Amino acid sequence: MLRFDFSFMFEPNVKGGITEEEFEECKPLVAKAVDAVVKSRPGFVKVILDRSHMDAIEDINQWVLSFNNLVVIGIGGSSLGAVALVNALTPPDWNYLSKQERKGYLRIFFLENVDPDQTAAVLDEIDPRETLFAVISKSGSTAECLAHYQIVRGLLQIRGLKPSNHIVFITDPKKGFLRKIASEEKILALEIPPDLGGRFSVLSPVGLLPASAIGVDVKALIDGARDAYVKCSDLKVEANPAAMIALCHYLHKKKGRTITVMMPYSNRLYSLADWFRQLWAESLGKKYSLSGEVVNEGLTPVKALGVVDQHSQLQLYMEGPDDKTITFIEVEKFDRDVLIPSIHTEEEISYLGGKKLADLLKSELIGTERSLAANGRPSMRVIFPTINAYDIGQFFMYYEFATALMGQLLNINPYDQPGVELGKQITYSLMGRKNYEHIQFPEPVKRVV
Ligand code: PA5
Repeated sequence: MLRFDFSFMFEPNVKGGITEEEFEECKPLVAKAVDAVVKSRPGFVKVILDRSHMDAIEDINQWVLSFNNLVVIGIGGSSLGAVALVNALTPPDWNYLSKQERKGYLRIFFLENVDPDQTAAVLDEIDPRETLFAVISKSGSTAECLAHYQIVRGLLQIRGLKPSNHIVFITDPKKGFLRKIASEEKILALEIPPDLGGRFSVLSPVGLLPASAIGVDVKALIDGARDAYVKCSDLKVEANPAAMIALCHYLHKKKGRTITVMMPYSNRLYSLADWFRQLWAESLGKKYSLSGEVVNEGLTPVKALGVVDQHSQLQLYMEGPDDKTITFIEVEKFDRDVLIPSIHTEEEISYLGGKKLADLLKSELIGTERSLAANGRPSMRVIFPTINAYDIGQFFMYYEFATALMGQLLNINPYDQPGVELGKQITYSLMGRKNYEHIQFPEPVKRVV
């Protein structure tokens, strides 16, 4: 069961933290937001209560397991959740293990960025005959995804392999190019519910198919999210982790702390910070309020890795502008641990001998947290007792719900992303897409050195 420690968001633990009066005053506002989000029944809640998505994954499980590789083709909300799941719930050397060592589950690769070096390397690594390609796009029109889709279709064609034997689409139930191709060519297509935005879709087939392909207990993942949702619906703010996340960030934002750093002390959980980064950046960064005023709202999410970034970012967090809150992610018990042997007797090294790496990691987390607190820099902790599917499911739900709450508190729509449209249209125009020739964009006055 995931736990949250908000102690260092508050006075008196942190000078300049949230005071008791501020907390009491804000609670009714946050409780109202909780009520509003629950009543609005958002897509990310409906999806975990709808068994049909898990059934759809179970129905094709045997077929999926007949392959050796899964290549996930998608970008943004159509990949970051699955990347986070895979990195959290498989060992770092997963793709190098034999099929037997993987207990029959699949090696997994992502074609996300259209970086030719990266794509070529992935394609070199897989044998298309033993590969399933999951093409994931809610809109079915994302350029990066459609480019990769055509590349793998080309590959299948060269090898004389039938697309419908090697491709599964995950897309809107009715709309978009992928849905059209699916019905024309009888390619299997799983559904992303229409009211579920990409960055909220990890607990739909978008994340469930990759998760099941690598042997994640999908039921535990969903159970975790469901149990978290029960807590998310609690109007008692101090008992509701999502409400507390939103309240703390909202109040610290008012104090000028508009940057939120997520810093897992775990390589396996580092990609959760990537998933969170997209969730808060796209959901909360908005030009207009719900009432149509220009507000240029948002919090800037930043990721950092403990302890690595203690040697890179911490100086800034300690002594730079007081514009940040830090969320540490702690793992209480790692799957494995490594003993540091006592080799030398000199004082500057001997204290490490006989300790374990997890002890060092934990001490470093506490050292960072307490030194920041001593310097008036607020933080919170998300505590994973172990890394498991149930708690990862909880994490997704708590942060999705907290995002919806932040939308309420900031009076913006967290479910759209109008700001990315112009860039897409310019790309279409540059790539010669029909009907986009007219898109205007300024040519800069050059200042190239
Ligand atoms: O959260 C979002 O809506 C976006 O990040 C999308 O997931 C991303 O742009 C990919 O879109 P699509 O799934 O339509 O290909």
